[in-house]
Amino acid sequence: MYHIISIRDFERSDLDYLLDRAQEFDTGKYRPGMLDDKLVALLFFEPSTRTRMSFATAMARLGGRSISVDSVEASSIVKGETLADTIRVVSGYADAIVLRHPKEGAARLASEFATVPVINAGDGAGQHPSQTLLDLYTIRQSMPVDGIDVGLLGDLRYGRTAHSLALALSLYGVTLHTIAPVGLEMPANIALELRERGMEVVEHPNVEEAIRELDVLYVTRIQRERFPDSASYYNVASSYRITTDLLDGVKERLMILHPLPRAGEIDPAVDRTPYARYFEQARNGVPIRMALLHEVMK
Ligand code: CP
Repeated sequence: MYHIISIRDFERSDLDYLLDRAQEFDTGKYRPGMLDDKLVALLFFEPSTRTRMSFATAMARLGGRSISVDSVEASSIVKGETLADTIRVVSGYADAIVLRHPKEGAARLASEFATVPVINAGDGAGQHPSQTLLDLYTIRQSMPVDGIDVGLLGDLRYGRTAHSLALALSLYGVTLHTIAPVGLEMPANIALELRERGMEVVEHPNVEEAIRELDVLYVTRIQRERFPDSASYYNVASSYRITTDLLDGVKERLMILHPLPRAGEIDPAVDRTPYARYFEQARNGVPIRMALLHEVMK
C-alpha cells in the first residue's frame, strides 16, 4: 500500500488487513516510537476537526511529528501556486502527505506529483477512504459486516463519506438502502457501479419506510458548501431528522452512525439511546489512522 486515494483501489483483503491492524493499535499492541523518525504533512484546504486532529493524534501516538497548513488562505495557493507545485515542494519536507481538498480528483492528482505517499482526507464530493475504514471498524465492533442491511440517509449526491462507504460495503454482501431528498440521490454512475459489483440497492422515499429493516443507519448532513446557491440548499435543508419517536420497533442491534459534524439531522435526545454510536465512531478515527500512517511510512 503506497497512496490511499479511493476505496476503488482496495480489495476486501486490504480493508480487512487494515481493520485488523487498527484493532491491534486500539488494544495497545504497538510500540509508541514506531514512527519516531517520521514527519507527516497535513494539508487541509477545507475545514476539518475530526480528520485533521485524529491524524495528528495518531501520528503523535506513534512518536512521529506533524506539520500542517490549515486553509487555502494560509498557503501560497492564494498567490497562485498550483496544487502540483505545492505537493512537489511538500514532498521534500515530509514522509507522507494527508490532503483534504474541495475538488474531486485532487488527491489522485497530488499522488501523481508526490514523491511520498498521499492519503486522501476527503476530495470534494469524491472519496474519504480513512472515514470509511473507521466506519467499517465501528460496525465490526458490534456485528459482522457481511450480509447486513445498511441505510444511507441524507445527501448521497455530494456526500463523499456515503460514496466511499457504499463502495466498501459492496465487498461485504451488504444490502444498501438509500434514502435521499429529491435531487440529492446517489449519482447514477455510482449506483450503477454498486449494482455491477453485485450489490442490492433499494431506494426508499423516507427513513420511516426503511428503518425497521436496518442493522446500521448511516446519517449524513446536507453538504451545504457544495451547493451552487443558498436557495437550492434551503429547498432541501431540514427535510429529514432522526428523533427518538422514529426508533420505536427498530432492531435491537441497530447502530446509528454519522461521520459528523451534524447539522440538525439527529435530535440530541437520540444521543442517550443505545443506538447512537457516532461519538465512538469519531474516536475510532485514531486507531484507523495509526494503522494507515504506519502502513504507508513503515
Ligand atoms: N468526518 C469528518 O471528515 O469530519 P471533519 O470534517 O471534522 O474532518
